[in-house]
Amino acid sequence: MGAASMERENGAVAAAAAATTEMLSPPRVNSPRQALVERLKDYGQEDVFALLDELSPDERDFLVRDIENLDLPRIDRIIRCSLHSQGLPVAAIEPVPENWVATVDRRTMEDREKWWKMGLKTIYEGKLGVVLLSGGQGTRLGISDPKGCFSPTRPVTIHWYIMTSPFTDEATRKYFSSHKYFGLEPDQISFFQQGTLPCISKDGKFIMETPFSLAKAPDGNGGVYAALKSSRLLEDMASRGIKYVDCYGVDNVLVRVADPTFLGYFIDKGAASAAKVVRKAYPQEQVGVFVRRGKGGPLTVVEYSELDQPMASAINQRTGRLQYCWSNVCLNMFTLDFLNQVATGLEKDGVYHLAEKKIPSMNGYTMGLKLEQFIFDSFPYAPSTALFEVLREEEFAPVKNANGSNFDTPESARLSVLRLHTRWVIAAGGFLTHSVPLYATGVEVSPLCSYAGENLEAICRGRTFHAPCEISL
Ligand code: UD1
Repeated sequence: MGAASMERENGAVAAAAAATTEMLSPPRVNSPRQALVERLKDYGQEDVFALLDELSPDERDFLVRDIENLDLPRIDRIIRCSLHSQGLPVAAIEPVPENWVATVDRRTMEDREKWWKMGLKTIYEGKLGVVLLSGGQGTRLGISDPKGCFSPTRPVTIHWYIMTSPFTDEATRKYFSSHKYFGLEPDQISFFQQGTLPCISKDGKFIMETPFSLAKAPDGNGGVYAALKSSRLLEDMASRGIKYVDCYGVDNVLVRVADPTFLGYFIDKGAASAAKVVRKAYPQEQVGVFVRRGKGGPLTVVEYSELDQPMASAINQRTGRLQYCWSNVCLNMFTLDFLNQVATGLEKDGVYHLAEKKIPSMNGYTMGLKLEQFIFDSFPYAPSTALFEVLREEEFAPVKNANGSNFDTPESARLSVLRLHTRWVIAAGGFLTHSVPLYATGVEVSPLCSYAGENLEAICRGRTFHAPCEISL
C-alpha cells in the first residue's frame, strides 16, 4: 500500500472511529448516559448503544433503564468464567456405583411402610414445603403459554412455592386465579421469579432483541437457589417450621408431589439432597443421567446432548444393563439447611452452562448462547446425595414435545396416566368396559380420591366403569 493510500486509509479509519465515538457520545459530557457508555466499554458491551441515535426518546429511556438495571460486573464474571470453562478439558465421567442407588428391588415392604409413615408424620407436622419449577419457556412443546398452564397441576395441601420467570409469571398467576387456586387458599401459594441473564454471541457480546432491548433468558432451573434466597423465601420457610423441601419440574404428569415415601427415605438416610431416578428406557432417550464427574468425583448429571453415542449405549457386563442408566427426572428433596448454604456456593462458582439456542434478535433468529445453571449443579456441594429409584410407569410421563412427535407428547403422557389409574382401579376390584381398545383409553382417578392407588376399594370394588371416565369423590 502506498503512503497516500495508507494516509487515506488511516484517515478513513480515524473518521470512522470519530463517527463511532460521536454516535456513542452522549448529548452532554459527564452525563449519566456517558457514564453508562463508559461502563459498557469496560465490559466490551458498548455495541448495545450502537443504534442509540436512531431511537425515539421512549425507546432510548427503555434501553438505558434496562442497562442500568444490569449487574454488569456479575454478568461479566459469569460470561468470562463460563466461556473460559467451555474451553477446558472436561473431567471424564464414571458410572454411578450400583450401591449408591436405593433400587426398587432392594426395597422391602417394611422399608416402604416405615418411610411412608415417617413421611406422613413429617408432612403432618408441617415440616415439608414444595417448590414447583415453572420458569422454563416450553419452546420444544411449541406453545406460547407456560408449560404449567398447559396441563393440570395437582393440588397439594402444604405450602407451595412456585417459581416463574418474567416470561411465565403473568400467565401462570392468571392461570391459578382463573382456576380458583385449584381449591387451595391463595395464601397457601407463594409465587416468586427467577433471574434472567442476557443471551450472548459466541464471543460473549450481548445480543439485541430489538434496537432498544437485550435478548434475555431465564437463568436455568438452578436459578431456584438464588431466587429463593433473594426473595427471602428461605426465611419464610424457616418461619413456617419447614425443614425439608420437595422440588419438582412442571412437565411430568405422573409426578408424586410431596411423596411421603421419598420424604421418609430421605430423612431416614440423613442426606442433604436426594433425587428420584428411573432406569433409562433406551440408549438415545433424551434425559440426563447421573454420573460421577472424574475418578471418584462428585455426583452430577450429564445431559443426553453431552453423552456420546458409545457411552450412551455402553453395557455393564456384570448386570447386562446400560452403564449410564439412572435417568434424572427433575425431582429432588433438599434440607432447608442445604438450600441456605448452596446459593452462595453456586454464585461464587460463577460457571454457567452455555446452551446453544435460537435467539430472537433484531435481525431475525440467530444462533446464540443462553447462560443457565441447572438444579443438579448443587449436588457437588451436598455432603451427601441419595438416589431413589422409582418406576417409570408409576412416576414419569414427561411432556416435552408437541403431539405428532414420536415421544414425550401430551398424548403419550395422558395415556400413561390412564394406564396407571386403570391398573389401580382393577387392583381395587373394579371392572372396565371400553368401546375403543384399552391401550388407547382408561380411567382417571381424581387425586382427591387417591394419591398413589391406595384407598380405592370402597369406591371401585365390584363396580363397572365405562372408559374413558373420571373417578372422583
Ligand atoms: C430436565 C433435566 C434433565 C431430565 C429431564 C427429565 C435439567 C437441567 N435437565 O431436562 O436432566 O432428564 O428434565 O424430564 O433440569 N425451568 C425453570 N427455569 C428455567 C428452565 C427450566 O424453571 O430457566 C423448569 C421448567 O419449567 C421445567 C424444569 O425446569 O419444569 C425442567 O426444565 P426443561 O428445560 O424442560 O429441562 P429438560 O431439558 O427437559
